[in-house]
Amino acid sequence: MLLTGRSEEAARRVAAELRDAAGPGTADIRPLVLDVTDDGSVARAAARVADAFGRLDVLVNNAGGTYDTWQRAVTADLAVVREAAETNLYGPWRTALAFAPLLRASAHPRLVNVSSEGGSLTNMGGGTPAYSASKAALNALTRMLAAELRADGVLVNAVCPGWVATDLGGPGGRPVAEGAASVRWAATLPDDGPTGGFFRDGRPLPW
Ligand SMILES: NC(=O)c1ccc[n+]([C@@H]2O[C@H](COP(=O)([O-])OP(=O)(O)OC[C@H]3O[C@@H](n4cnc5c(N)ncnc54)[C@H](OP(=O)(O)O)[C@@H]3O)[C@@H](O)[C@H]2O)c1
Repeated sequence: MLLTGRSEEAARRVAAELRDAAGPGTADIRPLVLDVTDDGSVARAAARVADAFGRLDVLVNNAGGTYDTWQRAVTADLAVVREAAETNLYGPWRTALAFAPLLRASAHPRLVNVSSEGGSLTNMGGGTPAYSASKAALNALTRMLAAELRADGVLVNAVCPGWVATDLGGPGGRPVAEGAASVRWAATLPDDGPTGGFFRDGRPLPW
């Protein structure tokens, strides 16, 4: 398993923590530097995966941010909207472009976009406009990639982890393991599992 981070030191540290937590010698978790907003960084990461493994079984697009609770759609700062799109939309798009050939080389490829119910058009209001618009666009990208990659057997789905107690979610949310369960579910779908869907806890969400 490859654990990515913008900071090499942080990726190394967290990979080591996860290896220790799994028990000595039981988990092969390797750090990999990746900034999803940087073409060169994504290309270098894809080249390293190609050299080391020749394929990628699961791509999880988890990086995200700019949860702009301080602004509304009608008064939004478009620089903030652009910043959200860079990480939450173009980031996953950039990694999908770079890693699609390696996913196609896998026998059971899966692509998981970590989205949010904030991107659901059904319930959309005018709050957190940069975040919500970028996640709605990520959901649209999920549908497009699923359609494009279906013939290659790549199952592409968006998941919402729910409200999770992370740096972004703040205190009060679900434990990280509960949020991550949605990601694990989509990453380990059987070959006849769904593609082009939007799920939380394995259940469909409204688009
Ligand atoms: N927490 C919630 O309640 C909640 C709810 C719905 C959806 N989500 C989604 O869940 C995902 C994970 O969020 P989180 O709650 O864990 O947020 P978080 O605590 O703020 O962590 C975000 C992660 O994204 C990474 N990241 C940000 N920009 C990046 C970039 N350009 N390249 C590579 N990595 C980058 C950060 O890395 P650094 O350590 O380098 O900053 C950090 O590890 C996001 O997509 C978020 O939208 C979260």
